[in-house]
Amino acid sequence: MLNIQLAATAVIQQVLSNGRNLNQALDEALRGKSAWTSAQRAALQDLSYGTLRFHGQLRAVLDLLLHKPLTDERVRFLLLVALYQLQYGKSAQHAVVDNAVRAAQTLNIRASGLVNAILRNFLRNRASLLERAVQGEEGRFSYPQWWIDELRAQYGERSAAILDEGNRHPPMALRVNRRRGTAADYLALLAQQDISARLIEDDSIGFGALLLDKPVPVDKLPGFFDGLASVQDAGAQYAAHLLDVHDGMRVLDACAAPGGKTAHILENAAVQMVAVDKDEKRLQRVAQNLQRLGLSAQLVAGDAAAPEKWWDGKAFQRILADVPCSASGVVRRHPDIKWLRRRADIAGCAAQQLDILRALWRLLAQDGKLLYATCSVFRQENEQVVAAFLAQQPDARHLPVVLPENENGQLLPDERHDGFFYALLQKI
Ligand SMILES: C[S@@+](CC[C@H](N)C(=O)[O-])C[C@H]1O[C@@H](n2cnc3c(N)ncnc32)[C@H](O)[C@@H]1O
Repeated sequence: MLNIQLAATAVIQQVLSNGRNLNQALDEALRGKSAWTSAQRAALQDLSYGTLRFHGQLRAVLDLLLHKPLTDERVRFLLLVALYQLQYGKSAQHAVVDNAVRAAQTLNIRASGLVNAILRNFLRNRASLLERAVQGEEGRFSYPQWWIDELRAQYGERSAAILDEGNRHPPMALRVNRRRGTAADYLALLAQQDISARLIEDDSIGFGALLLDKPVPVDKLPGFFDGLASVQDAGAQYAAHLLDVHDGMRVLDACAAPGGKTAHILENAAVQMVAVDKDEKRLQRVAQNLQRLGLSAQLVAGDAAAPEKWWDGKAFQRILADVPCSASGVVRRHPDIKWLRRRADIAGCAAQQLDILRALWRLLAQDGKLLYATCSVFRQENEQVVAAFLAQQPDARHLPVVLPENENGQLLPDERHDGFFYALLQKI
């Protein structure tokens, strides 16, 4: 446990102090640890995700326990990790404390006595400390105050449920490759492997995502490497259906990587697909995903906001603009986002999104449809971008989207899917 605590401390420091994203920080922490078992890797992931998921609450508790500021920030990060383990983990409490003391010694931070005292104080006074910690909103919700204020201004009383949902473990959903079989066929294959799952049926749009009762590693999914199914949130699976693609159409996926929606569109219809992404490295993941699924597309490294650099001048009948966004609808999958985003980033995202939307509109054929998508719950990136676009684009018509439980295309995160926004625009 000692090494895992130390590695998690380094991950949390990378994210909270150096602004690194969690996946990169985890990759870095695991470099040179090829001897670690999958259980050790999973434990590091759990400590890192969990500490960030509940950072607001853990920080509030720690602030109550500290009588003066810490001089070495690594002590703070180590204590946050250990508090997470004591409050949410399954390890024996004395082992967590003993290991944290040894971790402090290993880090040579001359704070092992303090670490011991603080963690034991927490164990003695846990109930009252937690009660006091949740009196402040950052302690209660574990989000920065600006995020809490923003959601409250936009969603009123419903904001508490949205915030709490973002602190739950996300569901694992599968998309069945309909070229290779039906959802019912795949459910039967899962049952043979004792993987229990259910179909989220949605007759209104005629598709079904599969929801697993418990997440499993992809290599345990039957036929995964043969392209029978993919891991994709059920909310993301609406995109291909809303886009209403038919065989032979020319389709642009303008922000395509890692290619989940590109592949889904290609599974639904035999279209001529151009998949663009600004990030060349991420574009390789599109290629890998398509190869696994036996699909193909023209892949282009390019900027969706500057299509004159890569567009061949032939109009597209369908365009998917799954634009870069704050990712505020998927925080339960990326809890680092809560602490890395700044309030001003939201306006920056919205400006970039509007630029992309305007640039792509020129590429759309008459009567063609463009689906604008984000995984955000902030209205600035969603309906406000669309409203600003429509105000200046008289040849654009906003079509209704047929989705369950949505409000003008806004899906809120729940036990079945993440938070998404969809707007379908037609060129008239
Ligand atoms: C939300 S992700 C797309 C997810 C993808 N559609 C899927 O379903 O797998 C946004 C993508 O936009 C890319 N991106 C960001 N800015 C871009 C730009 N100006 N032009 C093209 N791609 C961009 C990012 O590299 C990222 O891969």
